[in-house]
Amino acid sequence: MSTYIIQGGKKLEGEVSISGSKNAALPIIAASILNAGKTTLYNLPDIHDTQMMFEILKSIGGKVTKKHNKVIIDTSKVNKYEIKEELMRQMRSSVIFAGSLLGKHHQCTFCYPGGCDIGTRPIDLHLKAFEKIGINISQNYGNISCSCDKITGEKIDFEFPSVGATENAILATCLAEGKTVITNAAREPEIIDLQNFLNKMGANIKGAGSNKIEVIGVKNLKDVSYNIMPDRIETGTFLCMAAMTNSNITIKKANPLHITPVIDKLEETGCTLKIEKDNIEILAPKKLKAVDIKTMPYPGFPTDLQSIFATMLTTAKGTSVIIENIFENRYRYTQELIRMGAKITIEGKTAVIKGTKKLYPANVKATDLRGGASMVIAALSTKGTTKVDNIEYILRGYENFDKKIQQLGGKIEIQK
Ligand code: UD1
Repeated sequence: MSTYIIQGGKKLEGEVSISGSKNAALPIIAASILNAGKTTLYNLPDIHDTQMMFEILKSIGGKVTKKHNKVIIDTSKVNKYEIKEELMRQMRSSVIFAGSLLGKHHQCTFCYPGGCDIGTRPIDLHLKAFEKIGINISQNYGNISCSCDKITGEKIDFEFPSVGATENAILATCLAEGKTVITNAAREPEIIDLQNFLNKMGANIKGAGSNKIEVIGVKNLKDVSYNIMPDRIETGTFLCMAAMTNSNITIKKANPLHITPVIDKLEETGCTLKIEKDNIEILAPKKLKAVDIKTMPYPGFPTDLQSIFATMLTTAKGTSVIIENIFENRYRYTQELIRMGAKITIEGKTAVIKGTKKLYPANVKATDLRGGASMVIAALSTKGTTKVDNIEYILRGYENFDKKIQQLGGKIEIQK
């Protein structure tokens, strides 16, 4: 495991460009199986999670070529339908291959996926959706085997708007016979990006972004090239980093419309945000004000920014109350913040943060991807040297995180 060494206490300044969205890229990589041909992707973030998706793709017969700023995927020779356990366990999004393999090849074997430890993260909703469209599922010693002769359009009604299960339902049905109607679908922008990608490939999907998605099965999908949307969680991360370090920075190549609740809450803390097309300038006040947040499925406040926003509030004036409604184990990072002097108490879904004057440098660790980014932000805000261990979690999801911070004048180095 590697470590970031951060010399904090300095204001950041300048501009930073946002990379392509991790959570849009992962299902789109899996979706490339569906055309059994060529997919060219632009603005794909070069992070550990996308590299892992390529490893899985290669292990089942796919070919991946990187050329300058584009990645070309060839899935014409995909001929294996089992995802190896060691790859599956590395990341949760591996489960998204099931929808594509079933949609195109009508078979898939995998085991329960791994990923960040932020809750139990079951896949029952994915499996129920598969069963609904006629897929036979058998489970044996943790292995899940799915197969069918054909997939027929059906009504799928989710009891909870799961992002991954909605994506898997779309992927499994775009080559099905007839029409599939998904209700109580997740509404995240990444699902719109998946719909746009698949429609460019020749699929017939409408409704993504609303809670009702219709997928009319088509016979074939064609070669495609696609530009991935900007990462809204990375955008929120840099905004909170600027806010906590009392800085004024400009964020470029973002989509401000995707983070409306985050912008609203930042304004409540006293930050000024100037939005111009895909640029966001943030001017932070000397002292932030405490605010309350509760995480909800989109368009609510994103759970992926809960730890980052809460960290920023540890030095705000007043008491903030955070309610985490999506994952049951997403407060592990608070133990690390407490080592830096934060005053946080947790009870069930609720965290109460009493703002302190400042945090102190300490040796801390990343407990998960976003919790890790939170530690970096806390470290940048405090005078002195902070070590953040286990940064492999951070590298899963942030492209060139250290370089982007250095570009803003932050002092951060990797110690291997
Ligand atoms: C996606 C995002 C992740 C984000 C999350 C919620 C990707 C690659 N990851 O994850 O960054 O934090 O959305 O916005 O896009 N659940 C079940 N059964 C299921 C599926 C989910 O109970 O079959 C529960 C989960 O345990 C969790 C909640 O539903 O409590 C939300 O999960 P879901 O929306 O599926 O998140 P992911 O797709 O895993």
